[in-house]
Amino acid sequence: MGFSMLHEIILLAAVFCPLTVHAISPIRPDVREELEKIQKEHFVHENDFSGTYMDFVPKALRWELAFILSFELRVNALDANGLKKIQQALGLDDGNTVIMKRNLTNLEGKSLPLNGREINVTTLDLSENQIDEIDKDAFGGFINLHRLYLDYNRLSHMAVGVFNPLMKLKYLSLHSNNLQSIDTVRFPENSSLEELFLINNHITNLPEGSFENLRKLNNLHLSRNHLQILHEDAFRGLSSLKHLMLRENCIKHLPRGIFRELGELSHLDLEHNLMEFIDSEIFVGNEKLFSVLLSENRLTTLHPDTLVHLKNLETVMLDSNQLVEYNFSGLHTRTIRLTDNHLTELQFNPNATHIKAQGNKIERILVPSTVNLIDLQVDSNKIEDLGNITTISTLTALYIANNSISDLPEDFHKLTRLSTLDLSHNHLTHLSFSSWTTNFSLTSLYDLRINGNNFSHLPTNFLDFFPNLQYLYICKNPWNATFLHSFSEQCIGRNITLNNPNDPTNDCSN
Ligand SMILES: *[C@@H]1O[C@H](CO)[C@@H](O)[C@H](O)[C@H]1NC(C)=O
Ligand SMILES: *[C@@H]1O[C@H](CO)[C@@H](O)[C@H](O)[C@H]1NC(C)=O
Ligand SMILES: *[C@@H]1O[C@H](CO)[C@@H](O)[C@H](O)[C@H]1NC(C)=O
Ligand SMILES: *[C@@H]1O[C@H](CO)[C@@H](O)[C@H](O)[C@H]1NC(C)=O
Ligand SMILES: *[C@@H]1O[C@H](CO)[C@@H](O)[C@H](O)[C@H]1NC(C)=O
Ligand SMILES: *[C@@H]1O[C@H](CO)[C@@H](O)[C@H](O)[C@H]1NC(C)=O
Ligand SMILES: *[C@@H]1O[C@H](CO)[C@@H](O)[C@H](O)[C@H]1NC(C)=O
Ligand SMILES: *[C@@H]1O[C@H](CO)[C@@H](O)[C@H](O)[C@H]1NC(C)=O
Ligand SMILES: *[C@@H]1O[C@H](CO)[C@@H](O)[C@H](O)[C@H]1NC(C)=O
Ligand SMILES: *[C@@H]1O[C@H](CO)[C@@H](O)[C@H](O)[C@H]1NC(C)=O
Ligand SMILES: *[C@@H]1O[C@H](CO)[C@@H](O)[C@H](O)[C@H]1NC(C)=O
Repeated sequence: MGFSMLHEIILLAAVFCPLTVHAISPIRPDVREELEKIQKEHFVHENDFSGTYMDFVPKALRWELAFILSFELRVNALDANGLKKIQQALGLDDGNTVIMKRNLTNLEGKSLPLNGREINVTTLDLSENQIDEIDKDAFGGFINLHRLYLDYNRLSHMAVGVFNPLMKLKYLSLHSNNLQSIDTVRFPENSSLEELFLINNHITNLPEGSFENLRKLNNLHLSRNHLQILHEDAFRGLSSLKHLMLRENCIKHLPRGIFRELGELSHLDLEHNLMEFIDSEIFVGNEKLFSVLLSENRLTTLHPDTLVHLKNLETVMLDSNQLVEYNFSGLHTRTIRLTDNHLTELQFNPNATHIKAQGNKIERILVPSTVNLIDLQVDSNKIEDLGNITTISTLTALYIANNSISDLPEDFHKLTRLSTLDLSHNHLTHLSFSSWTTNFSLTSLYDLRINGNNFSHLPTNFLDFFPNLQYLYICKNPWNATFLHSFSEQCIGRNITLNNPNDPTNDCSN
């Protein structure tokens, strides 16, 4: 792991802090690459948030960075060893950290044998014990404590007021306990708490004012509980909240005003719940929303007004719902995911750059007059006609496998920026470019997939149209054996990899 590069990231973070997403976007490619490497090494691909995620990066940057880097992986957690390595590399272990893993069960003042040194302890890690009770005086001496980890214990309740002495506490993690109610996690007025992790407990409801005294709270993680009932004023007072994670609960209904006071909210994750309907005024007052994640619910409709007013919205995830139609043409969003719904029509917004809508029933694609789309993924739909898509001259990647395409339109050559084109599993039989009025070549194309069609021959000069092709997938076609033999030799001559056997995502490798 490149220490110097990490150092640079910290510097970068410090320079820009507090950061906006736009400030990070032009992050230097080599720094980005290094971050991606760290991410691959250390982040687990899980719907889980350990609460220790990139502790070294200032909060303002942390999530945005994570979001950019882990977009595809939906990475939310850093494994403990990874974190330790990073912290060690950064010299973040300030000596004031106390870790106690001794199968502690009941936490009383005297079970923390620190001989008065606790006054300087800033981090206390009591995770992975068997603590089921915490007495009121347990944390009496820890007046400088900033971080408290109680993950993986058996807490079902704590004495009321247990956190009262911890006026400097910024970070509390109660991941994976048996908490059933939020009552025992009450904080005193003017609490300093910025991050609260309650992931993987058994909380079923959030009553009025559940987090009332947490005016500095930035991140609230309630994923993987059994939340069903949220009071309209459950989040009252959370005027600094930026990240609210409610994924993997049993939420059916959100009261209309529930996010009303969350003026700073930027990331909202409601994935994997049971919502069928969302009030069109639910996000009134949440002008800073940057990403709204609603995948894996049961939404059948989403009123166009719900998200249209959000000028900072960059990402909307609606995968695996039951949307029959969704007109998002007024959205400001750049990235939209609508995979596995029941859409028959795709009508996208002018500022979208990435759209994924695989596994719908899309027949029609309505393209706005100005368009910035660079990545369109519409595999497994019912598209027959590529006509409208060929007007999107900004496209660099088009995935349109498993549709009903039998022909390429004559102006297909207008997609001059295409670098990846997946036409596999369609009904293509013939490509007779010779009849096209324009002599064309797609000079950017390097990955072309026409496997799973009905080709027996290709035009003799086929490869001339794609002078920079590197990968070509042609398996699962009824090739004429003579043609295939000579074509394969042409490919070898041009250094084109056929049916890349090293690519596990294609069906030519088996
Ligand atoms: C904690 O308990 C487990 C099982 O009960 C045991 O394997 C482990 O050695 C104990 N750890 C300590 C530090 O006592
Ligand atoms: C706490 O830390 C300060 C300096 O950081 C030091 O002067 C003081 O002696 C420490 N107190 C204890 C009880 O260790
Ligand atoms: C909380 O802060 C306010 C304003 O700073 C102050 O008036 C109030 O007394 C504080 N409350 C407590 C319990 O410290
Ligand atoms: C979609 O919404 C836009 C305005 O946001 C409107 O102009 C357009 O007519 C709508 N399309 C359909 C098919 O309703
Ligand atoms: C599209 O982006 C441009 C420039 O980034 C911006 O001025 C415009 O308001 C955006 N339009 C919408 C509908 O988001
Ligand atoms: C192409 O777009 C036009 C209008 O923009 C629409 O009427 C037509 O149905 C679209 N065709 C396809 C195949 O998407
Ligand atoms: C092709 O698309 C249909 C729906 O249009 C889907 O049911 C099927 O599983 C897809 N096949 C593959 C191989 O993706
Ligand atoms: C098309 O252009 C290529 C080079 O770009 C050239 O070799 C070929 O002869 C041209 N074909 C026709 C029919 O003009
Ligand atoms: C496949 O191509 C052959 C001719 O090469 C044609 O007879 C047949 O109808 C085609 N099948 C489909 C499903 O398009
Ligand atoms: C394959 O194509 C060649 C011409 O390219 C033709 O002579 C031959 O008959 C074809 N073979 C079969 C089995 O169709
Ligand atoms: C073919 O590719 C290999 C490795 O990608 C490269 O070493 C070689 O120089 C290439 N040959 C030609 C003729 O481009």
